Amino acid sequence: MKRLQLGIFASGRGSNFSAILDKSSKGELEADIKLLVTNNKNAGAIKKALVHKIPFIVIKRSMFDTRDDFVKKMLMILKDHNISFIALAGYMKKIPVEVISEYENEITNIHPALLPSFGGKGMYGSYVHENVLKTGCKVTGVTVHLVDNKYDHGPIVAQRCVEVKEGDTVESLSGRVLKVEHQIYPEVLQLFAENRVVVEDKVAKIK
Ligand code: GRF
Repeated sequence: MKRLQLGIFASGRGSNFSAILDKSSKGELEADIKLLVTNNKNAGAIKKALVHKIPFIVIKRSMFDTRDDFVKKMLMILKDHNISFIALAGYMKKIPVEVISEYENEITNIHPALLPSFGGKGMYGSYVHENVLKTGCKVTGVTVHLVDNKYDHGPIVAQRCVEVKEGDTVESLSGRVLKVEHQIYPEVLQLFAENRVVVEDKVAKIK
């Protein structure tokens, strides 16, 4: 079994990044967290990376003259850090297709709802929970999926339900969902470390 050489992409708070770090430092996730990649120099995730002495890099399209230069640099950074697997954890930008091809079935994303419901462009953060509540859903949950060229799309690796309770607010619901995110994401990454995820006809199966 090979330890994952993990690159984590995050744009915001970084609580999933922390949860993954925590499980790897406890030995419950066989992964080395090699790098944090962010498009946001103010991301909370950077502070966490500094505390844990994880290298980080701020990279975004606007730092480059051409898209090509941007993509080349991103690929070079990933190669230089020997990244074998990418986990998106609240990364707000689309991953360039070239990176998706280079890391085919080796990029996961976590989404705070049961995809394919409540996903896609613009469906992020509190909007997701707001819409779940507005629709009157009785259950919501968490999805971890492999990443393809569409937002919140690609083979679903794992999902877990969270009950929507009478009187829930965006805050109460998102808090419960987030707790489940912190459990399921390291667990799913461990499945990849154990080489137990196979994709057949765009469907992910656990061996
Ligand atoms: C999480 O809810 C995740 O599902 C979504 O973005 C949020 C990131 O939160 N993709 P954090 O930065 O990990 O705290």
